[in-house]
Amino acid sequence: MTGRSSFLIVANRLPVDRTIEPDGTASWRRSPGGLVTAIAPVMQRRQGAWAGWHGAPDEELEPFEQDGMNLISVPLSASEVELYYEGFSNATLWPLYHDVVAPPVYHRTMWETYRRVNERFANAAAAAAEEGAVVWVQDYQLQLVPAMLRKLRPDLRIGFFLHIPFPPTELFFRLPWRKELVEGLLGADLVGFQLPGGASNFRRLCRRLLGLPYKGNEIFLDDRVVTTQAFPISVDFAHLDSLVRDPQIVNRAKEIRKELGDPEHVLLGVDRLDYTKGIGQRLEAFGELLKDGKLVPNEAVFVQIATPSRERVEEYRRLRDDIELQVGRINGEHAQLGYQPVQYFHQSYDHDELAALYLAADVMVVTPLRDGMNLVAKEYVSCHHDLHGALVLSEFAGAADELRQAYLVNPYDVEDVKRQMLAAMRATPHELARRMRTMRRRVATYDVDRWANEFLNALESPASPISTRRSASWRSG
Ligand code: ADP
Ligand code: G6P
Repeated sequence: MTGRSSFLIVANRLPVDRTIEPDGTASWRRSPGGLVTAIAPVMQRRQGAWAGWHGAPDEELEPFEQDGMNLISVPLSASEVELYYEGFSNATLWPLYHDVVAPPVYHRTMWETYRRVNERFANAAAAAAEEGAVVWVQDYQLQLVPAMLRKLRPDLRIGFFLHIPFPPTELFFRLPWRKELVEGLLGADLVGFQLPGGASNFRRLCRRLLGLPYKGNEIFLDDRVVTTQAFPISVDFAHLDSLVRDPQIVNRAKEIRKELGDPEHVLLGVDRLDYTKGIGQRLEAFGELLKDGKLVPNEAVFVQIATPSRERVEEYRRLRDDIELQVGRINGEHAQLGYQPVQYFHQSYDHDELAALYLAADVMVVTPLRDGMNLVAKEYVSCHHDLHGALVLSEFAGAADELRQAYLVNPYDVEDVKRQMLAAMRATPHELARRMRTMRRRVATYDVDRWANEFLNALESPASPISTRRSASWRSG
């Protein structure tokens, strides 16, 4: 790859992750998580480049091409991985932005490294973008990049999208570096959030923290206007819909059910192994249904796929131990020869196997305590043109705003989760089809292309002229 790009994605991660095996051999894998799932198809359909970290420490790579995408590696040292990625990004910001479901840590050295690494990403973007290019910065790991980049390259059109929730002001105020983060984001022309609530939290914060006036979606700085708006992210519906019509996937789905012992109900959970996902809550509910005799042995199998994630962060390590203990307990109490109620896999899968699993599942159980969107819920819906299958979905996932026909649950209320899981298992085919049809219509219409187009169109259309500022001043505080 040579030259500079007119369209640039900047994200902590590249779509491929380089893993170094204990014997020193390196291999590439698809990176985990929803950000890559959403951005990769968008990037494959556009000319441009993607700058991000390739997943291995202390290694510099030349720009390269993979799966039709131009990739620019931004290197991280082992200590930066620890302080910027595992530390400030995933031990401070991640729990804080997810309503403090785990206690965030606040360390000055982590913050300083976060700032330094953000600077490196801004420099890489400045070097890779051609005159007047559109640069789209992604997620909480890079919140300082928009302002740093604007300083280096005022000619660029800069967008930022936050994939995770933006917290209420009371929580955000705890951050010792709250002002710097907000000023970093305000370097963008457009700041996108998953839900309108996140966008309004951000506008209120700008007023309280920096005294900036706003009107509607627009925040007024001295010399510029920043637009803030919700763009609920989505999946590649058409791709998934056609994938599950492939006879090989259909056969694999049948095989999976057979391998599970052909139970009446296959329940499925697919998540990164993350404490925000409510994996323990759903397993507890399933275990109690067995204990209460509401489910008889052999009637239902719960398949839990848990992708390894952030394994060196303390909270994640503890979570893995807790979940594995819980799985062991449930199976210990309820297994019979030839029947294991919970099938747990701490592994990654390719697209085809995941699609077959979705197709094989009667009930998809998605119970995060907090989630920006949750693409797994939308992927499941995309895979059920047969109109069979039920989605049990947490009210606290962004997807619940759109998928109102799911069996909605409060994951903190174990009785509610049990009730809705049972309702999903006992529903008539007619009821399932009614719900699934409406959910599919929604995801088919608001797919990932529409999400990207709406964001990029908004980014390219100029905001209100600064002269409207006076009429907004009544909201300044
Ligand atoms: P998050 O971004 O927090 O991980 P999402 O539900 O939005 O949560 O996105 C998760 C993405 O990762 C989905 O596209 C899903 O298909 C994918 N995924 C989850 N578990 C696995 C796995 N074990 N193997 C491969 N892909 C997975
Ligand atoms: C979520 C975040 C992404 C992140 C992904 C995987 O989707 O919003 O920014 O890339 O999780 O997490 P990881 O830490 O492995 O990149």
